[in-house]
Amino acid sequence: DWTVSSFIEEQVKAIREKVGKGKALCALSGGVDSSVAAALVHKAIGDQLVCIFVNHGLLRQGEAEQVRETFGQTFNINLIYVDASHRFLNRLRGVLDPEEKRKIIGEEFIRVFEEEARKLGRVDFLVQGTLYPDVIESGTETAAVIKSHHNVGGLPADMEFELIEPLRLLFKDEVRQVGLELGLPEEIVWRHPFPGPGLAIRILGEVTEEKLSILRQADAIVQEEIHRAGLYRELWQSFAVLASMKSVGVMGDERTYAYPIIIRAVVSEDAMTADWARLPYEVLERISSRIVNEVRQVNRVLYDITSKPPATIEWE
Ligand code: XMP
Repeated sequence: DWTVSSFIEEQVKAIREKVGKGKALCALSGGVDSSVAAALVHKAIGDQLVCIFVNHGLLRQGEAEQVRETFGQTFNINLIYVDASHRFLNRLRGVLDPEEKRKIIGEEFIRVFEEEARKLGRVDFLVQGTLYPDVIESGTETAAVIKSHHNVGGLPADMEFELIEPLRLLFKDEVRQVGLELGLPEEIVWRHPFPGPGLAIRILGEVTEEKLSILRQADAIVQEEIHRAGLYRELWQSFAVLASMKSVGVMGDERTYAYPIIIRAVVSEDAMTADWARLPYEVLERISSRIVNEVRQVNRVLYDITSKPPATIEWE
């Protein structure tokens, strides 16, 4: 029967046989699935694996650094880090519509990935963190930026890869066990899903540097307080959303006119349905007072008490 270590052993053997002396490429998103897939394939073929991590400028605080540190340094994986923030932000300027944002980000992602992949010369294999639930229905599973952004269909016709999908028979909880056994840090193994388009769909309306900076600070406070309260693993997702509207407040003897931050925290099994999390008032209180005190340009905090359906988990 299934044990984590026998699974790893078998996969390592199978991947080695399949790849031979070939070269494999992996798009690393920092999410659980692509991270575990990369670590597993790296264990099998070492430097024959090259990972590309595209920073689209829509990541959360500290995220790019964590991926670089974990994979580039701790695992010593051959990691190509591309900071393409300016390209994405330029293309998103003036764009308000959520689907339009997704389309632009998806296209640009493929473009950047392609440019980097071409520089590598011949690549024979593409590693994907596809899980069993993705195989049976390509649903809304999220951590894999790969799926939404550069599934193989989206890559140019003259770049032909064979797929390596070492996790395709596993469920999420098994993937996490494999990740832990491979030595991935808990922050990656237990990470909440994060959408491929990132913070762009958590800023309602136009994405700007200023709003990104505000949202990153607010979101970091949400993450910290949820962790501190020991609630992280109970939640499916928890995050901050920035609306592009302002309201009046008062700070000292000054009138303020600033953004509200919306907190979203949900429990769910599979993201198809979700219930808003009954966060303790004390946690909400700490999140609220820290955000208004620590994040300039925010003077109000709201908590979303809507379930899915009829609302969605994300706001865009
Ligand atoms: P909704 O908002 O539709 O989200 O209830 C369900 C799950 O999907 C994630 N999500 C996305 N993931 N690209 C992704 O990779 C996307 O464009 C996207 N939109 C939503 C969302 O975070 C939730 O886990």
